[in-house]
This record gives sequence, structure tokens and C-alpha cells, in this order.
Amino acid sequence: MSYSKGKHFPVSRRSLTVQIDPYSSSRATPGGITLRTGLIVGNWKMNKTASDAAIFIRALSERLHGLSSHVELVVAPPFTALHAVRTALDASSPLQLGAQDMFWEDQGAYTGEVSAPMLVDLGCRYVILGHSERRTLFGEQSDGIRKKIRAALKHGLRPILCIGESLKQRESGTTDDVLTQQLKESLPGFTAEALDGITVAYEPIWAIGTGKSATVEQAVAAHQTIRRVMATTISPAIADSTRILYGGSVTPQNIASLLASNHVDGALIGGACLQVDSFATIASVASAARSIGV
Ligand code: 13P
Repeated sequence: MSYSKGKHFPVSRRSLTVQIDPYSSSRATPGGITLRTGLIVGNWKMNKTASDAAIFIRALSERLHGLSSHVELVVAPPFTALHAVRTALDASSPLQLGAQDMFWEDQGAYTGEVSAPMLVDLGCRYVILGHSERRTLFGEQSDGIRKKIRAALKHGLRPILCIGESLKQRESGTTDDVLTQQLKESLPGFTAEALDGITVAYEPIWAIGTGKSATVEQAVAAHQTIRRVMATTISPAIADSTRILYGGSVTPQNIASLLASNHVDGALIGGACLQVDSFATIASVASAARSIGV
């Protein structure tokens, strides 16, 4: 079976044995092939109290116990549950902590906001930025998203930049233009070096919470566009090493086909991350799909 990571380098699945370093999102092999570590992120959105979250995390950690670490697994609870989740995570849990948003200033008179240093202090390693629900329901603009990316990177948080087209935009054939514009507006002014570690999540708005996932072909085409735009606007090396996730009605049933493509490095999951069984199943399918040399 052929297994390729990075753009043009088909390699034998059995020819590589790679130890996954959870703190490195990609690595070059001696053959010059970029291996992107799989990433599964559960975006809880506005669900679960702190008490519910602690119970959920203990049950989930138990289910994930012994899962081989071929993918990084991240949970992004509401701010109010971050501390409870961190406390409930024992040292052997493969789960990492992420947040769903943040403000770009470090501190000050910004009622209702939280900053990157606050999230880092709570043990967060990732932060979701520019989710379409933030853009459409709360008026987030690319300029603010860019400032948030800058602040996250400055404090060592890994941003997960969400982009995606509406149904109207897809039907009018402008998906590529929309993705290109969102990337170009969110990522200017950064050096390639600074953007090492950023993740992009392709989340078509029409697929979010609808039960109607993008087809593998639609996801792959969008991911190829994203990588092409990153290659020309940032650098080919960053385009090659950046992980691109798919999000929108991902389930235990469709995760395997999505991850079968080398263009899809993982998933950003909403509804299906809220039950222990469905998130644990997705994690285990993803781990199997990303295992190399076994
Ligand atoms: P669903 O998986 O519920 O479609 O949500 C996707 C999403 O918005 C994740 O950020």
C-alpha cells in the first residue's frame, strides 16, 4: 500500500518507522519527505459545564488509554471548563488542551475577553481562531484574526486558523477565491519562520452542523488550493509542513475516508466530539490511519 505525505513523494508504507513527536507538527525524513503528524481537535463550542467536562474527560481518557500516539488529540472546551479539564487530565492521557478563541491584547480593559497568556497559564497549547461562527455571529474580521494569530504565536500557542466558504459561494463557483482571500487577509506580514506551527482548518460553512459533510474530493480540492496559496504567499516549505484539517459533519463513519487522502492531515470536530464513544472512535480510526511502519 502506498502512503505519501507531503506533495509529490509516494513512499512505501512499510519503509518508514517514525516516532511521532507530539511537540513537532512535521519532520523531514532522510529522503526529504515531509511527514505531517495527524491532528484531531474536538471543538466543544458552547457545551458542557465545568462539572460535566471533568466527568467527560475522565471517561474519555479511560477510553483512550493505550491508544498508540500516531495522532495528536486536542480538546477545546469553553473557557469556563479549561481549568476543570486540565485538572481531570492525568499524566498518561494523550489529550492536549486548546481554547476556542482569544483576544489579541495581553491584558487590560477588555471586558469579557481572555488573552493568550491566560490560556497558556491554564495549560492550553492550541487556540482555534476565525471560526465561521465567530465571523458570522460575532462579526469577526480578518484584520482581528490576523492580530490574534500574531498574539498566539508570540506566546507559544499554536493557532488553528479556520476558513471556509458559504453554500452560496460554493454554488456560485467562488470557493477557491474565498479561501485565497481569507488566507491572504489573515496571514500577511508574517515571516515563514513565525508561521511554523500554524494549522489551517478548512470548514465549509454549509457542512457545519448539517450532517452533510464535504465529499473527499471537495475536501481534497480545497486543501490543495490552501497549500498552493500558502506556497506562493508564504513559502513552499511552510505550505508543505502546515497541517490542514477538514471540519464539517465529521463522524466516526466518514473519518476514515477523509483521512485516507494524504491531503487531509486531521479533523476539527464539533457535534461528534461531545460523546465519549464517538470522539474515542474517531481518535482510534485516525490513529490507525496515521500509523506508519506498522
Ligand atoms: P460539526 O462537526 O458539528 O459539523 O462542527 C464542525 C465545526 O464547526 C468544528 O469547529
